[in-house]
Amino acid sequence: MKTIFITGTSSGLGSAAVRLFHSKGWKVIATMRNIEKGTIFSDLEHVEVLALDITDPEQIKSTVAKALSLGDIDVVLNNAAYGAIGPLESVSEEQLVKQIETNLLGAIRVTQAFIPTFRIRKQGLFINITSVAGLVTFPFDSLYHAVKWGIHGWSEGMSYELARFGIGMKTVAPGFIRTAFASNAEITSTEPYQELVDKYMSVVAGMMDPTTSGSTAEEVAQIVYEAATDEKDQVHYIAGADCQAMYDRRLEVGPEEFRREMSVTFLG
Ligand SMILES: NC(=O)c1ccc[n+]([C@@H]2O[C@H](COP(=O)([O-])OP(=O)(O)OC[C@H]3O[C@@H](n4cnc5c(N)ncnc54)[C@H](OP(=O)(O)O)[C@@H]3O)[C@@H](O)[C@H]2O)c1
Repeated sequence: MKTIFITGTSSGLGSAAVRLFHSKGWKVIATMRNIEKGTIFSDLEHVEVLALDITDPEQIKSTVAKALSLGDIDVVLNNAAYGAIGPLESVSEEQLVKQIETNLLGAIRVTQAFIPTFRIRKQGLFINITSVAGLVTFPFDSLYHAVKWGIHGWSEGMSYELARFGIGMKTVAPGFIRTAFASNAEITSTEPYQELVDKYMSVVAGMMDPTTSGSTAEEVAQIVYEAATDEKDQVHYIAGADCQAMYDRRLEVGPEEFRREMSVTFLG
């Protein structure tokens, strides 16, 4: 039986991935920062719920050690993250550090904790959830771009050193996923930007139908499963026609023209 370790499984994509891998006969180590939410998996056999706040380096070490003591782990899915929207001037030091600690350092530290064991076993695969926001840019998402572009480049960079030891590193970049992500996002603003932020938010709201746009968490989990099992020497995967279309457009017109188009689309 193969085993996957997943971060941020209390909702959305993480939760859908737990259920999909479980349904495919995998053992799942479902981690979450609030362990009480683990009851959502009480109907599932072979799902072990462990506490993990990915901003806590000591807990990362102890939870990874506990997970490894339960048996070999084949795949680590770095999924936990949250959105940050707003002009940089409106972001506090605490908010700035929390975004980077969670969305960038969290995945890096979890990965670092697993590498020695994977290296000795000469096998293992890391899959990191990035985003369309790790492939293109929009206004007022700069911090989120910093972490998701960071995960994209870091993953590709890591693939060189890990491949030598039989370890894989992949990313999955979803477009819009119909989860609680938007309502969980930290939105900040301050007066000189307020009008532009309102315009941006209204354009986004007009583009996104929360019931039909983008992908479901289950559809994205399928791409994660494909990345986990296809044995391809491929680092980057795109999940969702919306993400593919945005990425293709940037490649087609080039980054400068794409940036001008985004400025007109979102800010007028
Ligand atoms: N939804 C989208 O449109 C979209 C698009 C592209 C990429 N993504 C990416 O997809 C992934 C999953 O997001 P989602 O859509 O499923 O959103 P979600 O439902 O809000 O799930 C995010 C998960 O991350 C967890 N989390 C947040 N901070 C954490 C921390 N410090 N330690 C441990 N867990 C933490 C949350 O736990 P709590 O329940 O404790 O808050 C939750 O389980 C993220 O990497 C996100 O960036 C989402």
